[in-house]
Amino acid sequence: MIIGSNIQFYESLQSTNSSASLSLKEKELPEGTVIFTDFQTAGKGQQGKRWESEKGKNLLFSVILYPLSVSLDNQFLISMIISLGICDFLRELVPEVKIKWPNDIYVNNDKIAGILIENSIIGDTIESSITGIGININQEKFSPDIPNPVSLKIITGKDTDTGTALENLLNYLDNRYKQLLYGDRGLIRDEYASMLYQAGEWHTYRSEGIIFKGRIQGITDSGSLKIEKEDSSVSEFAFKEVDYIH
Ligand code: BTN
Repeated sequence: MIIGSNIQFYESLQSTNSSASLSLKEKELPEGTVIFTDFQTAGKGQQGKRWESEKGKNLLFSVILYPLSVSLDNQFLISMIISLGICDFLRELVPEVKIKWPNDIYVNNDKIAGILIENSIIGDTIESSITGIGININQEKFSPDIPNPVSLKIITGKDTDTGTALENLLNYLDNRYKQLLYGDRGLIRDEYASMLYQAGEWHTYRSEGIIFKGRIQGITDSGSLKIEKEDSSVSEFAFKEVDYIH
């Protein structure tokens, strides 16, 4: 086992990603180290947003990886295997799990999990990758500022033991990481594409202020999103270049 070989638990931290980053500055931690907490006082979301989570109710952790065999061009593969590992875990409990590109995990039209990957790049090598994962497990009420949150408890009506959930999830993530290191990367890309939210359906998107109808076709090797437009042309969008409207 790589992911989960060393688990550090803290009752409360500012952010597991920040704590992992500080620890790495002091010393090299074993690959696969998991920094887990019950509560974050300054949980970080994507694009400078905050990640809120009620104490002790959810999964909040970061995994430290040294994916030296992944070139910079391929760094989106890390995002893909982490998304797929979370989906493997959630699918045991809820069938309708999808990946909203690039790496939000959705059940129907609501977000159940978020991923914040912070890579440290030296030259053309990913020296370390801090993969932060937040999954809503037992929380039932969310702040009204969060657009469309959902949790396992809201979906299934049942409480889930977070310790058991973490153990299962780490196993899935470990298998996916081994697939990245030793397995078929083409298969990872295909599986990721097959899990994309809204793929193959006509929906409304916005890019550079222009609203358009389109149909997600998949992703490019570097992880850009391919969307077919009504005139049959296909456009590619890098991160933050396109918004989902509905
Ligand atoms: C998102 O905005 O969707 C990304 C959310 C990532 C949240 C997790 S919770 C554990 C880890 N530590 C953080 O501060 N953020 C990530």
